[in-house]
Amino acid sequence: MWKKWFSRNSKSSNESELNSLDPLKIPQHVAIIMDGNGRWAQRRGLLRSFGHRAGVESLREVVKVASEIGVKVLTAYAFSTENWKRPDEEVSFLMSLFSEYLDNEIDELDQNQVKIRFIGKIDELAASLQHKIENAQTRTNRNSGLILNLAVNYGGRAEITRAVQIIAEKVQSGELNSQDISDYTIQSSLYTQDLPDPDLLIRPSGDLRISNFLLWQLAYSEFWFTDINWPDFKPKHLIQAIRDYQGRERRFGGIKRS
Ligand code: FPP
Repeated sequence: MWKKWFSRNSKSSNESELNSLDPLKIPQHVAIIMDGNGRWAQRRGLLRSFGHRAGVESLREVVKVASEIGVKVLTAYAFSTENWKRPDEEVSFLMSLFSEYLDNEIDELDQNQVKIRFIGKIDELAASLQHKIENAQTRTNRNSGLILNLAVNYGGRAEITRAVQIIAEKVQSGELNSQDISDYTIQSSLYTQDLPDPDLLIRPSGDLRISNFLLWQLAYSEFWFTDINWPDFKPKHLIQAIRDYQGRERRFGGIKRS
């Protein structure tokens, strides 16, 4: 099934790009800010919604390839807690796109062992979308392949605020002593409590910021920026980002090992 992408493209430059990766240094967790849909559309004289729709295609391809090369977790930022400020038509379009994505992709994702998860304030979404999210999560929960973590109505600050509330309640009830609060207490109160931190953050579209994404988890992630807008982001760009990542030296605050 998904083996198709590389076999279809074998003998092409994609194969040699893939072969340039060190299979022992594939990042476990890749996080992506899917930015630049609007600009992509506007540059073509199209409505922004066309850019978002084209962005779904990029996501589909990137999920396949990430799964194929052995990435364990892919977190994609689809809608922030601040994106509600956009015009109503754009917000409704995005919400229906998420719903459509689940309808259209769930069978293939499930067949390919992808485990779908959502992070963010899911309880604030429309009941019908919440229902589809719950179904998708339940249906794929036992899958053993790529964890596809979709951040919808997600904000890093809101996630940390929520963690603080969870911890404060435990202190208040006597379950936890404030002296015992550690990094681990906080990490295990986040949406991503059971996931490794991202090794690699990819942001297309030329903006050099993290926009309230995974504020705690990105502490030691490697960042990779490109001017390409998300709808133009292809598997070869993912491979390029991973190749660059593999050439980085990660020290986590330590010093270079001789
Ligand atoms: C940011 O780019 C993108 C978004 C707010 C929406 C991202 C959504 C998708 C890629 C659709 C696919 C997602 C799923 C889960 C099916 P922007 O539109 O703000 O671009 P701009 O900065 O150029 O205006």
